[in-house]
Amino acid sequence: MHDALFNPLTVGSIEAPNRIFMAPLTRSRSSMPGNVPNDIMADYYAQRAGSGLIIAEATPVSPRGHGYYATPGVHTDAQEAAWKKVTDAVHAKGGRIVLQLWHVGRVSHSALQPNNEPPVSSTNAPSLSKTYIDSTFERYENTPPRILETDEIPGVIQEFADATARAKRAGFDGVEIHGANTYLLDQFTRDGVNKRTDHYGGSLENRLRLPLEVARAVVDAWGDAGRVGYRISPLSEHRDVVDSDPRATFSALAKGLGELGLAYLHAVETWDRSNLDPRVKSVIPAIVESFKNAGGGVYIGNGDYSPEQAAQAVESGWVDAIAFGRLWIPNPDLETRIKLGGPYREPDQSTFYGGGAEGYNDFEPLNAGEEANA
Ligand SMILES: Cc1cc2nc3c(=O)[nH]c(=O)nc-3n(C[C@H](O)[C@H](O)[C@H](O)COP(=O)(O)O)c2cc1C
Repeated sequence: MHDALFNPLTVGSIEAPNRIFMAPLTRSRSSMPGNVPNDIMADYYAQRAGSGLIIAEATPVSPRGHGYYATPGVHTDAQEAAWKKVTDAVHAKGGRIVLQLWHVGRVSHSALQPNNEPPVSSTNAPSLSKTYIDSTFERYENTPPRILETDEIPGVIQEFADATARAKRAGFDGVEIHGANTYLLDQFTRDGVNKRTDHYGGSLENRLRLPLEVARAVVDAWGDAGRVGYRISPLSEHRDVVDSDPRATFSALAKGLGELGLAYLHAVETWDRSNLDPRVKSVIPAIVESFKNAGGGVYIGNGDYSPEQAAQAVESGWVDAIAFGRLWIPNPDLETRIKLGGPYREPDQSTFYGGGAEGYNDFEPLNAGEEANA
């Protein structure tokens, strides 16, 4: 079923055998202390190697980039070596995996920061969301941030470049820059948050300076723009993380990313397709057009897609591929299930973050022959 999802797709320098991608999913199961990837993570990703492209979970590029307990990093030698085991396991099963590079900015707590300092951001305004800081997974208010000084910004860009070099050495097929979901690059991009008075704030050109400087540094660090993607969430609005003109802002960002020759642009279109923001229908195509016209690669859409809606979106040309998120959690053989028309297990939110194998790598693949006819 859904043949359109099974047409191979060239994503920059990566050949994806199908268009059923895996969206980045934070699962908070790294080994602590040290935020180190481990064997159950290697097993979890290898189980999902049938995906056309796995986009591994958001992974902080530096100690200050952390905002949640037990998320794996990519800034120490131990983390790099452990990620190599993950990529080897995925490749041994014939899969492809890129790493999502993350800096949370102000979405953090001082308990997670070096020397218990406040987190850093484009602003001094606090993030009003909550985070978890220890193995209880209770939620705490984020700590009010400290605004980054202008002369600290090159250091942040360097962190993304260093993390890219580590990801490459760890055997990833590429990296995705996390520009979505209210984190650091989003804090610089959107005018609801970025009130800076230096050349990283104010005008659209200034607000896009850090995201584009990071993208350029990441491309240079890898040495191949065809191995670099970028994720945005232009219409997701959370407290003050809003923009007065998402169409203009994100089209301009997409143009800049296209000019760098990025392999793909990835957008969170919505989290709830039954309650779709009417702006999606005009804003997303404008952004995608801007990316592609400038020389960018493919467009990956995400957000509450059913397999049927995904196939239709590929057929109509709305997307080149779909990244499924929650559906991959309890269905490690999602591509097989889609081919057979199901069945699909429902995700259990209580096992999303933290814990061990339960609700993580303990889902059996279906026996195709038997269940398809059941
Ligand atoms: C448990 C969980 C963890 C997530 N972690 C990330 C993440 O690390 N990076 C990211 O960009 N989005 C993250 N998201 C958002 C998903 O990638 C995706 O945008 C969202 O789940 C909507 O897609 P879906 O309806 O196919 O699940 C997460 C979502 C969930 C449910």
